[in-house]
Amino acid sequence: MSGFSWPSEGELDEIKKMVAEMSGSDIEEVRVVVSPYRICPLGAHIDHQGGTVSAMTINKGILLGFVPSGDSQVLLRSGQFKGDVRLRVDEIQLPKHVVKSNDKIQSNDSSELQEESNWGIYARGALYALQSRGNYLRQGITGFVCGSGGLDSSGLSSSAAVGVAYLLAFESANDLTVSPSENIEYDRLIENEYLGLKNGILDQSAILLSRYGCLTCMNCKTKEHKLIHPPKLQKNHPFKILLACSGLKQALTSNPGYNRRVAECQEAARVLLHASESGAVEPILSNVEPEAYEANKCELESNLARRAEHYFSENMRVIEGLEAWASGNLEVFGKLITASGLSSIQNYECGCEPLIQLYEVLLKAPGVYGARFSGAGFRGCCVAFVDADCAEEAASFVKNEYYKLQPKLASQICQENAVLICDAGDCARVM
Ligand code: GLA
Repeated sequence: MSGFSWPSEGELDEIKKMVAEMSGSDIEEVRVVVSPYRICPLGAHIDHQGGTVSAMTINKGILLGFVPSGDSQVLLRSGQFKGDVRLRVDEIQLPKHVVKSNDKIQSNDSSELQEESNWGIYARGALYALQSRGNYLRQGITGFVCGSGGLDSSGLSSSAAVGVAYLLAFESANDLTVSPSENIEYDRLIENEYLGLKNGILDQSAILLSRYGCLTCMNCKTKEHKLIHPPKLQKNHPFKILLACSGLKQALTSNPGYNRRVAECQEAARVLLHASESGAVEPILSNVEPEAYEANKCELESNLARRAEHYFSENMRVIEGLEAWASGNLEVFGKLITASGLSSIQNYECGCEPLIQLYEVLLKAPGVYGARFSGAGFRGCCVAFVDADCAEEAASFVKNEYYKLQPKLASQICQENAVLICDAGDCARVM
């Protein structure tokens, strides 16, 4: 193996044993999908508008052990959630949501879905995505899925990591060869069509394209990506990634805020495109030239003006950040992350009090280069880049200071996981 710290041999053995017991197979027959969580240092909330984002994976994520079941049956068990999920790969899957307005996502089949404690929807979503692009599978799987300690719904793209894990497992069991870009599209179908979240392709692109130690840069409009290799300095790992949990957890699909912001960005794009007489193009902000934005921003109502300002300023931060990363300048890189965090608070207005406090605490911690909300920022954790030599000290500073500000929320977090010190990871793969 690669010498990565995750997954450990022990974690792999444990999951293989579970699947061997569930299926009656030999342990050697068990395959494991490793699907890491991602962070997005720069490029928050602009993927759904066709912006350019930066991302990398971390050494934590989802493990899905599985064997082909020998027929069309799927049996799944989870390390976190109760209840077995049983389905068949040849059942036709239909989207599970009804979007009643721009911002409300509701399930249209209550009892069955709730019984599965909701966690079965990602496997169903993966089948939906594969089927809707003409892949009719014959081979089911028997599988056991688990995520790194307490990090589900934390703004680390756990849902995309799970979706990608099921896609890779079904594809492997059915001998399908699928490229990363096809899987990016399949995961988009799970999230946008099956679950009704109007998100962009940041999460799954990071999970499927990242390489250890590189920064992945993705143009979400053209779908072109590049890996920015680290200079020598970063090969010695002078930084660690801190994840500080707020104690607030909620799946994005159950929070109307995300889709509402997407709709506001589109509305801003519509106004700007109309003002600049840009003709019939899709109303997303990447279709508005920066010059047209500058010339016409006075036409926007104040909330739409803030969303657009976030988009255009964040795109600039990504460009500057890629340069800073390529030259190994973590100070500049970190300052841009912090500025991105501030724009999420002031312009995108997606934070909540505990997350904003956590962001501010991180910025005071020793050795921190920069911090921001991880992911959409409605709940979950904040992420920071920190000098490796200061990581332990910074982690305990953040833990103590956050506890003083939010004792109730902080006491709900398992203390071991309150502030995690992580390293960069690799892309999703089947082992
Ligand atoms: C969530 C979404 C992504 C992206 C981020 C914010 O993780 O799934 O598509 O919009 O929020 O950058």
